[in-house]
Amino acid sequence: MLVENCKIIELPIISDYRGNLSFVESMNQIPFDINRVYYLYDIPGGAERGGHAHKELHQLIIAISGSFEVTLNDGKNSTTYLLNRSNRGLYICPLIWRDLKNFTSGSVCLVLASDFYSEDDYFRNYEIFYETKQSLIKL
Ligand code: TYD
Repeated sequence: MLVENCKIIELPIISDYRGNLSFVESMNQIPFDINRVYYLYDIPGGAERGGHAHKELHQLIIAISGSFEVTLNDGKNSTTYLLNRSNRGLYICPLIWRDLKNFTSGSVCLVLASDFYSEDDYFRNYEIFYETKQSLIKL
């Protein structure tokens, strides 16, 4: 699971004089079933979120409002994405460390996740994540 396996997914836009509508369906626009939705909001200036990786979870992150940056790191390479469009999601596969920062005022980060919340699915220590990735690469 590398940063190359993560990607921006353009979501459909249904646009008319009343505004825009975008949607996401399990296993359709995204390569996983959605079992959980959560969102970050009222984010104070300068706050940073993320700072972890997941063992099995797949996610799609959307800047529903405003913008923020997401840096992905697979233990070897890293890539930073600016999310600033409501019809664009960043797909993150398992075993990718992510850091979210530079949230603009009033921004809202919507996350679609493949499973229920489980603390056991987290790597919260970068060194342990890094060592795990190195041992997987050697397999
Ligand atoms: P965390 O995943 O660290 O947040 P972020 O990735 O946005 O920085 O979660 C913060 C806290 O919220 C932590 O105590 C776990 C809890 N939490 C839930 O209870 N359910 C959830 O669905 C999520 C994502 C977090």
